[in-house]
This record gives sequence, structure tokens and C-alpha cells, in this order.
Amino acid sequence: MRIVVTGAGPDSIGLATAVALRDLGHEVVVTTRSVPVDGFAWHPLDLASRTSVAAFASWFGATYDGLDALVNNAGIHLDLRSTWKQPQLVDGHEIHWRTNYLGTADLTRALLPLLLSAPDPRVVHVVSKLHERGRNEAFFSAFGDGYDSWVAYGTSKLALVHDAASLAVRHPGLRAYSLHPGSVYTHIADRGLETAPLLGRLRALAAPLERRMLATPAQGAETSVHCVTAPDATSGYYRRSAPAEPAPQAGDEAARAALWARTSDWLVEEAR
Ligand SMILES: NC(=O)c1ccc[n+]([C@@H]2O[C@H](COP(=O)([O-])OP(=O)(O)OC[C@H]3O[C@@H](n4cnc5c(N)ncnc54)[C@H](OP(=O)(O)O)[C@@H]3O)[C@@H](O)[C@H]2O)c1
Repeated sequence: MRIVVTGAGPDSIGLATAVALRDLGHEVVVTTRSVPVDGFAWHPLDLASRTSVAAFASWFGATYDGLDALVNNAGIHLDLRSTWKQPQLVDGHEIHWRTNYLGTADLTRALLPLLLSAPDPRVVHVVSKLHERGRNEAFFSAFGDGYDSWVAYGTSKLALVHDAASLAVRHPGLRAYSLHPGSVYTHIADRGLETAPLLGRLRALAAPLERRMLATPAQGAETSVHCVTAPDATSGYYRRSAPAEPAPQAGDEAARAALWARTSDWLVEEAR
């Protein structure tokens, strides 16, 4: 199989996913925003930029004759300390929403024609159990009043749970998954500490303990690898390499349909 894994930076779940898939004999193409990844075919990708997503899709289509699976693993969770009082905006969208949800939706739609020509195509959205903090109503607001970046992160991941469900229904030949990778020791929790050197030093001191308490990136990769490779894995939400129940708000079909329609509008509006 030829597989794209996004967000394969140092010590990340994406890199561990790419390594595990390559060890199983698959051809893996990876992305980061700017730094090449040793030992892999690589191309830059910034999900927060429509130009970058289009450039990636165009490069991929010109370089390869097909795609079997897309692992949408790249994601951000900034402001873990909840210090932001207002959203950071990219193209007028809250940054987690813009990057994790809209960027992933954009990339998936750009690569869908290639995927749909594969014999058993699969799309994996790496979300988080924190999608339970997400709110369907927030899809259509600017997250402005009483801003909480954890709700914004959760909402971006809830939207991806809906997106995977929509993809599976709209494209019956496509298997589409969303999954929680576990609580994994990566650099995701470093974000936001750049401006708090003392906290950064404390985190570095606590690192050995934190590392022991959390899963390794290789363990965090297991559910993605399962969803890409298991012959009998049907579409749905997964945890620990098994089907699981997402949060109740992920079952709201009216919200899911409205999100699908609005996403198409957003992507068209932004292309203008
Ligand atoms: N770690 C956990 O406990 C945990 C729990 C639940 C869910 N998750 C999810 O798992 C996924 C992987 O997280 P991780 O823990 O491995 O985090 P990480 O170590 O911070 O890696 C994230 C990757 O995403 C890439 N990325 C960041 N911003 C991007 C953008 N604008 N466009 C494209 N790529 C971008 C990064 O690229 P650069 O290399 O260029 O920085 C990096 O390679 C994320 O979706 C995260 O939400 C993680």
C-alpha cells in the first residue's frame, strides 16, 4: 500500500506511525511543516494554509500514480495552560479549528479522487478523547465569547469525528475512521511553553516521570496502524485498536449534515 502520514515530526505519533507502516512493508510518504524526515519520502505541508495544502496535493498527484490510505495525524493543541482570552485567528478562523479541522478536511477532499481509485481506500482522522469537550453549536460560531482553547481543540476534533462518519456514508467504497491514540508522551505538550521558560524547565525535569506515565509514540501509533491495515476493521470511531463509542454529541446527525454543507462552503469561499 502507498500511505500518506501527516505530522511526522521528531518523537511524534506520526513518525511512529510511519515507521510501523514502513516496517510492515508499505510505502510511506510523510509531511511536516518544514523539516524533512530522514529515511522517508517527504513534502512540506501546512494545514493552516490553503496554498500549502494545494501545493502538497499537486506535488503528490504529479509524483505518484495512486494513494491507498491517508492518515490525517497532524494536529495542534496550543495554549495548554489556558492563558488565551481571545482566539488566535487564521484566515478569520480560530487556529485549532482552522488547522485541525478545516485543514484536514481540505487535504482529504484534495486527495479523495486518488483515494477513490484505490481497491480498498482508507482515511484515518487522528482525533482525541477530548472531542468530548467539543460542541456542535461551536462549528458555526467564531469561538469569541468566553473563549476556551480546550473547547476549541475539542470542537475541532469533534468535527473530525463527524467528518469521518460523513465520508464513510458518502463514499461506500471508502473506509473512514476517527480514533483516540491514547495519552502519549510527545512534544505536543511543549507548545505554549516557549514563552514560559520556567515551566519549560520544570517540564523537562518532570519528563522521566511523565514519560513513564504516558504511552510511547509507538503505542500511540497502534490504533492508526490497525485502522489502515486490519482487513476486518469497519469504519467508525476507535480506541485501543477496537471500535468504541464517541461522545454523545458525535451522534447528532443534523449537526453532521450541517457541518458537511458548511465545510464545502468554507472551502469554496476561501478558494476565491
Ligand atoms: N500526544 C497525545 O497524548 C495525544 C492525545 C490525543 C490526540 N493526539 C493527537 O495526535 C496527533 C499527533 O500528535 P502528537 O502528540 O504526535 O503531537 P506532536 O509531537 O506535536 O506532532 C504533531 C505534528 O503535527 C504537525 N503540525 C503542527 N502544526 C501543523 C500544521 N499547521 N500543518 C501541518 N502539520 C502540522 C507537526 O509538524 P512540525 O513537525 O512541522 O512541527 C508535527 O509533526 C495530533 O492530531 C494530536 O491532536 C495526541
